[in-house]
Amino acid sequence: MDDIGFPPLWLRDNCPCAGCRDPASGQKFFGITDLPADVAIASVEWAPDSVVVVFSPDGHRSVFPLGWLKARRHGEGDARAEQAKTLWMGAALQGSDHLGTPGDTFPAFEWERYRRHDAERLRALVAVRGWGFALLRGAPTAEGTVLRVAETFGYVRETNYGRLFDVRAEAQASNLAFTRLAISPHTDNPYRDPVPTMQLLHCLCNTVEGGESVLVDGFRAAADLREQDRESFERLARTSVPFAWSDGRHFLHANRPLVEVNPEGSIRGVRFNNRSMGAVALAPAEATAFYDAYRRFAELVARPHAHVSLRLEAGDCLIFDNTRLLHARRAYAEGEGSPGGRRHLQGCYADLDGLESTIAALEALTGLP
Ligand code: OGA
Ligand code: ZN
Ligand code: ZN
Repeated sequence: MDDIGFPPLWLRDNCPCAGCRDPASGQKFFGITDLPADVAIASVEWAPDSVVVVFSPDGHRSVFPLGWLKARRHGEGDARAEQAKTLWMGAALQGSDHLGTPGDTFPAFEWERYRRHDAERLRALVAVRGWGFALLRGAPTAEGTVLRVAETFGYVRETNYGRLFDVRAEAQASNLAFTRLAISPHTDNPYRDPVPTMQLLHCLCNTVEGGESVLVDGFRAAADLREQDRESFERLARTSVPFAWSDGRHFLHANRPLVEVNPEGSIRGVRFNNRSMGAVALAPAEATAFYDAYRRFAELVARPHAHVSLRLEAGDCLIFDNTRLLHARRAYAEGEGSPGGRRHLQGCYADLDGLESTIAALEALTGLP
């Protein structure tokens, strides 16, 4: 019974003893080349919930909890990350594709409860991780509230747009988002590398006709593409696409694929925004095949029953995963066409690592799984 299922160097590198790692920080004292190159297992002794390994040539002794080892078997990490996500179709979420108040299964939470109760905040953040988004309702309608919301789970990612940005119709719009035009499903800022992995949109007022929000699960669309047309999926995953944006002062560009996959093959991110997508530099046959795949993916994104529609009301704040969720807005009328109508959102960016960290901290604090 000497085969633990982990190689000697793996075990030695992961020894939990106080000589190998700082008990305070858990960080390792050594680098990989500090270990004997010919490290081997000299003996193994099984206990009910641990295993004691003695290594040669230096006789180092390590005690590994069996639960700890089990959780680190081949493929475990990726499988757990996938299990934390629920891929969805809008029709199933809402029951129908009408506009209106989100139903029971729609991840929506009240700001006051969210703010006051750790368990409620944990539920909301787990929903963001699982569904890719959640809606907070009843937040204040003061300017800058979006930053306060972001600070409940992470750190604001400042960009050339500022710590926050105003989304309202402007005369000289540097971005179609700042007009009354419809914008089709997209992820934000694909021209950054890395992209802001989380986004918030907070509604200060919305009394216009139109301007409804639409959300699409980009992971579901990518997973469906993989199932229906594996070759197209793989083509998108291996083709770098140039994205760019400039206002004459900032010159942003990134060259990344539309679909990003983990080394294990699971879907890691989508980057989807035709507004700022540039010209791919490919040989003609490759370009044809790329556009064929891109179009198929876009058709899956455009399926009406994949969409969730909602109308952001004053005090609503959408929190979403910008590597997964695509968001859109219908056109709206304001000013002459719609007297008294006004629409003003504020947005900001943050990152998924902060979300994950806050979920873990709240789990530790509340004792909830
Ligand atoms: C954006 C955006 C949507 C909206 O600012 O990124 O997509 O509802 N806005 O105005
Ligand atoms: Zn050790
Ligand atoms: Zn956007």
